[in-house]
Amino acid sequence: MIERCQEDTRSRFGPRARTAVVLAAAALLAATSAAFLPGTASAGTTLGASAAEKGRYFGTAVAANKLSDSAYTTILNREFNSVTPENEMKIDATEPQQGRFSYGAADQIVSHARSRGMSVRGHTLAWHSQQPGWMQSMSGSALRQAMLNHVTQVATHFRGQVVAWDVVNEAFADGSSGARRDSNLQRTGNDWIEAAFRAADAADPNAKLCYNDYNTDNWTHAKTQAVYNMVRDFKSRGVPIDCVGFQSHFNNDSPYNSNYRTTLSSFAALGVDVQVTELDIQGAPANTYRAVVEDCLAVARCNGVTVWGIRDSDSWRASQTPLLFNNSGQKKAAYDAVLAALNNGTTPTDPPTNPPTTPPTNPPGGSCTATLQDGTRWGDRFNSTVTVSGASNWTVVVAVTPPQKISSTWNGSPTWDSSGNVMTMRSNGSGNAFGFTTMANGNWNRPVVQSCTAS
Ligand code: XIL
Repeated sequence: MIERCQEDTRSRFGPRARTAVVLAAAALLAATSAAFLPGTASAGTTLGASAAEKGRYFGTAVAANKLSDSAYTTILNREFNSVTPENEMKIDATEPQQGRFSYGAADQIVSHARSRGMSVRGHTLAWHSQQPGWMQSMSGSALRQAMLNHVTQVATHFRGQVVAWDVVNEAFADGSSGARRDSNLQRTGNDWIEAAFRAADAADPNAKLCYNDYNTDNWTHAKTQAVYNMVRDFKSRGVPIDCVGFQSHFNNDSPYNSNYRTTLSSFAALGVDVQVTELDIQGAPANTYRAVVEDCLAVARCNGVTVWGIRDSDSWRASQTPLLFNNSGQKKAAYDAVLAALNNGTTPTDPPTNPPTTPPTNPPGGSCTATLQDGTRWGDRFNSTVTVSGASNWTVVVAVTPPQKISSTWNGSPTWDSSGNVMTMRSNGSGNAFGFTTMANGNWNRPVVQSCTAS
């Protein structure tokens, strides 16, 4: 909450920020040289690991009923470090009858994600679409109250588990009017959007609160400008908004435009994060996928990219074959382009061709040494790398200071204690170093390595 008020945002760019720049420069040097150490080969071979090394996430929409499909979960668990429930957190799913909340399918996705070190984007708290029948037939102050209660209940249920919420989805009209979309929620009064953000902020002060929409990618479009003006107004009046989501469903009617980067950077300049939240592109042209990722990487406040499904057959627009994996789960050309873009135009390092022939001599249960190095630091988060010596199969315990939260990891298999503050990282064959991103939430203490054990 405090992080969001205007005064605080300003102080982020004051004297503290100058120190941060120096630290970030030093950390960047450290991170850059660390990237060339042997043993970090798997960094840069999956979308999530490559994005994490750039301080970003790479996510996908997930459907709970596909978590039993092993071809699906194999790709999900290997490639992605963020998930968005595709339908399971929508109003009709979470409050099917008024006042009776149902979280089973959403909880299943959240637990699948978090137990594997993936972060979760919540989607969505207030929307004109996918409303349960009882809400569709409501209006006026009763609807306003029901909407606010929904926001409060759902954001409270997932407090601490969702890093960013699409608080309000698709509230603006298409076309050249720049007007709000007509809906039962809009008819409760023009202030319904800010009321929803305030309720979400009260329920989960640490989650990033986003406005999310489609056809807001082209900087010259009236809808884009209308959302921009709303966000500028919210920032100037202290309405708690932290981020803007760009769905980025690109197709022949609504194509990618090279001014997308201008859109992302213009919103970011208002003092909000930007996220690509539902990316799919008709026909999956590799060049367009590459351009979207490069645009995000070019904007410091672009936190990450989420594609709207894994295989083409998982897409809500399957006939457009718009995703990164084909129906058999094979990587398409667009996948290679995205990975290369995340790796800065370079192809990933091949795994070592001459693996050591002698088995590790470290006895199980023996000790090892784990050294933590500071990595890149951003306005709200920082990376750390831990290098292990004295064991090849290792278990390292790292603690962060609340309200810090680890939001993503790479090159290891993490598990967590019940508080979520203590991470036990086990080697996963990726070498002798692992990394993680910590959301500072106002606390910049360095994480502490508590132990290193050979296993
Ligand atoms: C879509 C889902 O992918 C479909 O399964 C569902 O039938 C309809 O909704 N914008 C959004 C998403 O914000 O929630 C939509 O998801 C796609 C458009």
